[in-house]
Amino acid sequence: MTTTFTFDSDLTVNRLGYGTMQLPGKGVWGPSTDPQNAVDVITTAIDHGVNFIDTADSYGPLFANEYLKQALVARPNHHVMVATKVGFTRQGPNIWTELGNPAYLRQQVEMNLFTLGLDHIDLLQLHRIDPNFTIEEQVGELAKLQQEGKIKHIGLSQVSVEQLQAAQQVAPIVSVQNRYNLIDRADEAVLDYAQANHIAFIPWFPLATGQLTEGDTLSTIATKYQASPAQIALAWLLKRADVILPIPGTASSEHVIQNIDAQNIELSEADFEALSNIDSASK
Ligand SMILES: NC(=O)c1ccc[n+]([C@@H]2O[C@H](COP(=O)([O-])OP(=O)(O)OC[C@H]3O[C@@H](n4cnc5c(N)ncnc54)[C@H](OP(=O)(O)O)[C@@H]3O)[C@@H](O)[C@H]2O)c1
Repeated sequence: MTTTFTFDSDLTVNRLGYGTMQLPGKGVWGPSTDPQNAVDVITTAIDHGVNFIDTADSYGPLFANEYLKQALVARPNHHVMVATKVGFTRQGPNIWTELGNPAYLRQQVEMNLFTLGLDHIDLLQLHRIDPNFTIEEQVGELAKLQQEGKIKHIGLSQVSVEQLQAAQQVAPIVSVQNRYNLIDRADEAVLDYAQANHIAFIPWFPLATGQLTEGDTLSTIATKYQASPAQIALAWLLKRADVILPIPGTASSEHVIQNIDAQNIELSEADFEALSNIDSASK
């Protein structure tokens, strides 16, 4: 199993990354109750080898980016590939409203640059395709920002194979971020397409928002590897396809280290199959 993924000649990252969505306040709204801890969790991830971090302007909004910026400033000698997203507006805790107006997407790319303290974004993902605007309008605006040097690569989130192919007609697409984990595999077709085309597949909710931190089959297999159920769920993702870059979210430095260690677990074929056969009722 390869532990790295190559985006281009300058960007090869460790596949086991980190996602910042657990860092802002409850409902991904407002500041963290412990902003220093939020920064410390990210620096801990970087210190333990994470060099691919997923974020979004809508996390907080902007608070997650602020914590990430502080962590990047604190680790100036580490090159971290930042993958951020645009395309949502926020009205309160757990409320997300997509908006693909090209003018808004452009504004939010600029806001990401300001809040992350970066002069360009390595990977800019369209958080959702807004049905009120065409794919050409939305991805086309990102392509313009790419030509202007503000974005290096373009990715998509929560798309079908058909939408991905339509976007590929407008600009090169290097990644797709869809909900996917051991007990939620509705998007196997998108993963298979990504694998066939060397497109990074970034599964969100890799731990099913915490559901995969316990369970009978997971716990039994975890005991064999002297690991935690969460680590086994991540090891399963890493073995499922070389293009998968898991970005588990946590507000705990202890959990971040544990999650990173999952990349050292080499599941046997038999255990991989046993895990592949479980469903949400028998995890
Ligand atoms: N593109 C999209 O639409 C989209 C949507 C959702 C999320 N995302 C991205 O995907 C990332 C991951 O999703 P997520 O953070 O929502 O869910 P997740 O990674 O599936 O699960 C996070 C939950 O698992 C717990 N956890 C993490 N590591 C653990 C461990 N080792 N042991 C026990 N519990 C553990 C966390 O609690 P603790 O804090 O207590 O560890 C948290 O409650 C996000 O951070 C975000 O970057 C993208």
